[in-house]
Amino acid sequence: MNIQRLYRLKGTLKVPGDKSISHRCVMLGSLARGTTTVTGFLQGADCLSSFSFFRKMGIAIKNDRQTVKIHGKGLHALSRPEGVLDTGNSGTTTRLMSGILAAQPFDCVINGDASIQSRPMGRIITPLSMMGADIQSLKGNNCAPLAINGGALTGIAYPSPVASAQVKSAILLAGLYARGETSVTEPYVSRDHTERMLKACGADIRTDGTTVTIRPVPELYACDIQVPGDISSAAYFIAAGLIVPGSQIRLLNVGVNPTRDGILKVCRDMGADITLDNERTYGSEPAADIIVRSSRLHGATIGGSIIPTLIDELPVIAVLACFAEGTTVIKDAQELKVKESNRIDIMVDNLKAMGADITATEDGMIIHGGRPLHGAAIATHMDHRVAMSFSVAGLASDGVTRLDHGECVDISYPGFFEDLKKLAR
Ligand code: S3P
Repeated sequence: MNIQRLYRLKGTLKVPGDKSISHRCVMLGSLARGTTTVTGFLQGADCLSSFSFFRKMGIAIKNDRQTVKIHGKGLHALSRPEGVLDTGNSGTTTRLMSGILAAQPFDCVINGDASIQSRPMGRIITPLSMMGADIQSLKGNNCAPLAINGGALTGIAYPSPVASAQVKSAILLAGLYARGETSVTEPYVSRDHTERMLKACGADIRTDGTTVTIRPVPELYACDIQVPGDISSAAYFIAAGLIVPGSQIRLLNVGVNPTRDGILKVCRDMGADITLDNERTYGSEPAADIIVRSSRLHGATIGGSIIPTLIDELPVIAVLACFAEGTTVIKDAQELKVKESNRIDIMVDNLKAMGADITATEDGMIIHGGRPLHGAAIATHMDHRVAMSFSVAGLASDGVTRLDHGECVDISYPGFFEDLKKLAR
């Protein structure tokens, strides 16, 4: 995929549904009693991995691409899957499903692509084992493939060393089945979509600061779910609108949950002209239209409790920082090293190739912005967020930016390049 400079982005766009919420629709819809109707579901490869798990366990899911209908049979109705459960590239499927599968009365194996086989699973194996789960890394390296021999679990109070919604959600989903109360305390609050949706389905769950507590209930009940647009996908158009001169973009109905909206705060801190319109509650989630106009940006320091609220947006924020006057420091973001790729090293190497003044640190990056960038050959490492971040960088750089694997955007944003073309004026 080749990207070239654009002189203006204008128009209105509806970005695809939120990836995190779509995964949770499949999982809770399958475990609830009754039919869950979902609109706005993300048809990305990651969410389809979650579909495939439940279909293999006897749940009927109809997907006509406008609406998804999940015919849940209740908490205790899954059947033993034949063969290996293939998670593809999806960390969310792997970790959240491990929590559910640890409590089922059957055994199974989860495996995925090369990226999944190198991502840390010790972070869920440890707390699930404390609950009594039998879950093994088959290669003994705390990564997938994972063999899970489901059985009875007992609630725990778990102080999580990382602010991770995947860890928190795996424990809470296991807690749905555990004897007694299960609680998770995080260093900082991570995205709370699991908690919101569990509450809507009738779970006994409460949040107190950074601690979430769940108690088992006999059943969950189906409820219809409207998925708002994904702020992590909107982030690429927010960034593009800010750095391509003369741009004005309206992004319709984007989820602006406060545990996800750190990108808006950071952009405003950097001097961005961003406004929200039509703010409303969409299902269990806040949503709004986001209006962005090209702006003169300046550097910022980004760290601490805001990090979990923009963790997936840090690659594109690194791009923005290259176009901002002054220095941007990203810190407390060591989690970036264990995402779909090592996003610190890969962003730094590729941005350097485009002429940026950027240095990797142990827990982030330091960027001295304001130098013009030029096109380069970008090694995406098949990481969808790296590919989309460099598409944005290429729009405001001289020459041609060539992505080695543009097709990996399909993980979270099928149609990304077509949407970009729609805004080109
Ligand atoms: C996700 C949580 C985050 C995020 C990932 C999706 C989720 O991961 O990076 O893309 O849906 O719960 P961590 O929980 O590992 O931070």
